[in-house]
This record gives sequence, C-alpha cells and structure tokens, in this order.
Amino acid sequence: MIRQVCITCGAEYGADEVIYSCKRCGDLLDVEYDYEALAERLEGSDWRSLPLSVWRYRDFLPICDLSKVVTLKEGGTGLHQCSRLSNLLGVKRLYVKNEGENPTGSFKDRGMTVGVTKALELDVKTVICASTGNTSASLAAYAAKAGLRCIVLIPSGKTAYGKLAQAMIYGAEVVQIRGNFDQALRIVLKLSERHREVYLLNSINPYRLEGQKSLAYEICDQLNGKAPDRVILPMGNAGNISAVWKGLTEFHRLGLIDDLPRMVGIQAEGASPIARAIKLGSDVVTPVERPETVATAIRIGAPVSWKKAVRALRESSGVAETVTDEEILDAQRMLARCEGLFVEPASASSIAGLRKLVELGEIDKDEVVVCVATGHGLKDPDIVMKMCGRPLEADAEVGSIEKLLGLTQAFR
Ligand code: F0G
Repeated sequence: MIRQVCITCGAEYGADEVIYSCKRCGDLLDVEYDYEALAERLEGSDWRSLPLSVWRYRDFLPICDLSKVVTLKEGGTGLHQCSRLSNLLGVKRLYVKNEGENPTGSFKDRGMTVGVTKALELDVKTVICASTGNTSASLAAYAAKAGLRCIVLIPSGKTAYGKLAQAMIYGAEVVQIRGNFDQALRIVLKLSERHREVYLLNSINPYRLEGQKSLAYEICDQLNGKAPDRVILPMGNAGNISAVWKGLTEFHRLGLIDDLPRMVGIQAEGASPIARAIKLGSDVVTPVERPETVATAIRIGAPVSWKKAVRALRESSGVAETVTDEEILDAQRMLARCEGLFVEPASASSIAGLRKLVELGEIDKDEVVVCVATGHGLKDPDIVMKMCGRPLEADAEVGSIEKLLGLTQAFR
C-alpha cells in the first residue's frame, strides 16, 4: 500500500490524489510504503539480476502500471574511483557518482522517468516546472517521449545555454520570466493550484523524489551492499539530498545495508540559506533575498525542501558547508584534469566542499567518500571558456606548431 504522508503532522493522502502540500498544515509530503509487504515482495523479485538503472528498483517505486513507464534509459551511471584526486585531496578512497551520464545529462532524469510515468497513470496531459535549467531539460525530454504538453518557467538571463537549448529542442513551451528561480517556482505552484490540467513536476512533488532516491540504491549496490562513510551533494532546492537520504534509510530498514552514511550538503556562498542555518545550529532556514553564484543550477534563495534537508542532515549526524565561486571553479578544473570527468559548476561544489572539509579536519582521511556530480560540464560551456581562455593559435604549418609546442626530439 502506497500513501502520501505529511512530514510534519502525519496527515495521510491517497496515492492517486494530486496534491503537493498538506491540506491541514501546508507542509511537504513524502511517499510511504508498507515496508513489510515490500520486504516480502523483494524475496520473490528478480531485481538483483536486472542491470543497474532506475527501473531495476521498480519494487521500491510508486508505479502500479509498468506498461506506462516512460524511459530514456536513465540511471546506471558510473561510480568512478578517483585515485589521483583522492591523493591530491588527502582522502583514502574517493568515488564520484557521475550523474552527467544520464540521458539529458543530469540526475533529474531519475526523477522525471518516475514523475512523468505517474503523470500518465494520473491521466494528465500537461506538465509544468520552474527551473534553473536541468529540470526543464529533463522534463521536456520525458514529456516529449510521453506525448505530453510541457511548460517551463526559467529565470531571466542566467540559464546555461546548453540547458536552454535542450528544453527548446525537445519542444517545451519555455517562458523566461523577469525574475529569479524562487519567483518562478512560486508562480508554477500557483498555476498548478489554480488549474486542474497542469501537473507540477518540481521536487515538491514527492513522486519525482522517489525516482531520485535510486541514486542512493545504486551507490550501495555499486559498493557491493555497503554504504560509504559520507555522501556529499550540492544543495539547491534541496530535494535531491532529501531523496538520497530517504533511499539510504529505506535500504537500511530493509536490511540491504548495515550502516548509514553521514550526509554532507554543500551550497555556494552566495546562495547558502541551509548551510548557514546548519552551521549556526538552527533548524530554521531563512531565505536569501538575492542569491548569486557562478553555479547557476543552485542559485536558489528559498529552497522548497529545506525541512527535509535539515532532517536528513540532523538524522545522519551530517554537516553542511559553503564554498566560494573560486573554489567551485578550481574543483571543476581539478576533477576534469585529474580524472577526466567534466561536470558543471554546481556539481563541482561537492568536490570543493570535500576539499574544504578535509582541510578543516571534519572529514577523516580514512573515510570512504562518495561525491555526487549532478550534471554534465557541457551544459554550461561559457563558464569554462571564460576560465580557460582561448586555445593556442598557429599557422597551418608543421614547423610553427613544433616551435609553439617545444617539440625538439626529432627521429634520426
Ligand atoms: N546540481 C545540479 C546540476 C542541479 O541542476 C541542481 C538543481 C542541483 C544540483 C541541486 O539539486 O535542487 O535537488 O538540491 N537544479 C534545479 C533545476 C533547481 O531547476 O534544474 P536540488
């Protein structure tokens, strides 16, 4: 039995009720299962023999009619052991979960395959979201595959071009508002409350987060049934850290892992309401009025899932940290040059955070650490070209290139 449950007052709602917040207290909802029945179902299931992907975990997902699944082959992303980078940073074992390997280049695809499938189960025809870029790219792709109308609201000016291009080519109706992400989210929430026909697929929708929790399952399965000591993630709207923690606690509850890791949430200094609250020891997050960072994906001042994120950090004895734009860009370059992994700035913030926390002595050198790299570097090439400068230039002639590159050891 699947139900939607308010995280604060515990009010319960049916699985097929289209609802984004509690009618009684207005707080966020979580999807809950009958875990005894789930454990029994797993006994008879062949899930372990399926390839690594979101739908390997179909028994753990809130979808009843598997014939409706809308998939572009999401999940099954690499967990890369990064020995050169771990030597540089001074940790023994570091893995990067490279979510840029997903179909539209970010972890959002895990949520959208489930969210858009749910939309078909609910028989809705139009899906909508607000986005800093990746959510819109992903929703647009899955809506196209499902034949649904897709509307996205993005903030003016700051959306990375790669992401905007994706949303446009997949055929979404893209509305750029004269405002920031937080304003865009408030508007789509209003629209979905006022209009029965639009189904909201921001991370306030608990079904989308159910898909995202597969990230946690995959990490544990890729580490042969063991959780790492730490999982480090960037936080924007804070849905993903909440989803990953839910996935980890479910695996633990079902006896699929023995220990739980400590969660680490990283925010950019100019958009860090959750990290600031956690560092101050407060459980109340005050929005940042004008969020600003080079990591445009997480340029968010009023994270909608802050309560879930604070709970994940508290329950796991976790920590939160802030990193500067310079630290983020340094980490992005380091990961590319040491490990061949090109990730976008928001994703690199998890590496920047690890570096800072090792230096501060918060993360021990013996820990097994997983950093989640949430999106592909090609999403935002402009920022890289600004950082790396222009390529070298030479005449189209062997001699001048030899001279330029200092190639002196000729064959005799
Ligand atoms: N990393 C990337 C690459 C993202 O695109 C986002 C969020 C995050 C991290 C943060 O995840 O919001 O769950 O804490 N991007 C959203 C979007 C807001 O609209 O694409 P979160």
